[in-house]
Order: sequence, then C-alpha cells, then structure tokens
Amino acid sequence: MATLLIVHHTPSPHCQALFEAVVSGATAPDIAGVRVERRAALAATASDVLAADAFVLGTPANLGYMSGALKHFFDQVYYPCLDATRGRPFGYYVHGGNDVTGAMRAIETVTTGLGWRSAAEPVTVIGEPGRSDLEACWELGATLAAGVMD
Ligand SMILES: Cc1cc2nc3c(=O)[nH]c(=O)nc-3n(C[C@H](O)[C@H](O)[C@H](O)COP(=O)(O)O)c2cc1C
Repeated sequence: MATLLIVHHTPSPHCQALFEAVVSGATAPDIAGVRVERRAALAATASDVLAADAFVLGTPANLGYMSGALKHFFDQVYYPCLDATRGRPFGYYVHGGNDVTGAMRAIETVTTGLGWRSAAEPVTVIGEPGRSDLEACWELGATLAAGVMD
C-alpha cells in the first residue's frame, strides 16, 4: 500500500485548521489504497521519510523562514534520505501573519536539494483561514494522496 506522509508543525488553532483540512482531503472516501501517516515535525524520522511515497509539509512562517521545527526535521532527514527519495512528489502549505515569502523560499530550496518533485501548487494562508483556504488545503491533501493511489 502506498504511503502519504504529512509532516507538520502546528502551534496554533489556525495551523490546526489547515492541517485537519489536508488530512480530510488525503483520507477522502474516493481515495483508496493509501496509508496517510501524520507526524509532528519534531517527531518525524528518516525512516518515516524513506517509507513514504509522497509528502505534504506544513508550517507557520517564523522570522522569514520555515518554522524551526520543520527546519529541524530537514536537518535530521536530509542526508539519510538524499538520493533514496529523489523524484518523490510533495506539496506544502504555509500559514503566516503577514509575509510567507521567506518560508516558501526555504522549503523550495531544501526540497530542490532533495530532488523532490512538486506535485501541487503551494497553499499560503495569512491570518484566519477562510473557506477557500481550507478547500485549497483539502485539495492539496487529496492531490498528493490520489497521485500515489495503487
Ligand atoms: C517568533 C515568530 C515569528 C514569526 N514570523 C513570521 C514571519 O516571518 N512571517 C509571517 O507571516 N508570520 C510570522 N509569524 C506569525 C506566525 O506565522 C503565526 O503566528 C502562525 O502561523 C500561527 O498563526 P496564528 O497566530 O494566526 O494562529 C511569526 C510568529 C512568531 C511567534
């Protein structure tokens, strides 16, 4: 069975709403044969990454970068997963208070280094998530999960 790994840092209710929408899309009834694993960024391991077929990353913007937690995740898995996970599809969402540009650039840089393949438009949300933001996160989860359906 294919595995979609969602690695997220979720420090607030707004981030939690985005995370739950991604999970809802990834586990939609139409999607069969996909195991959806969720890992807090501080708990995710290289083994989790090696065992996954696709990834969704979720983070708040912090100080013009991805969260320290997601950065820590990449620090842990980068070299153990380099080469072995090249070409695997990923997508991501970023929540911020005013400007998520630096966080997006950071995620693009590290995923380019890993050789992961972007399989969905990034979802960016500022402030309180609206219905369209939650729908975009739902689509993000559904797209990545549908892409690895058996
Ligand atoms: C230390 C710190 C740094 C932050 N830096 C940024 C930033 O660079 N860009 C931004 O858009 N939001 C920034 N924020 C806001 C967070 O992204 C936001 O608090 C987080 O996404 C949770 O959203 P919420 O507080 O609306 O629930 C920062 C928050 C903290 C605590």
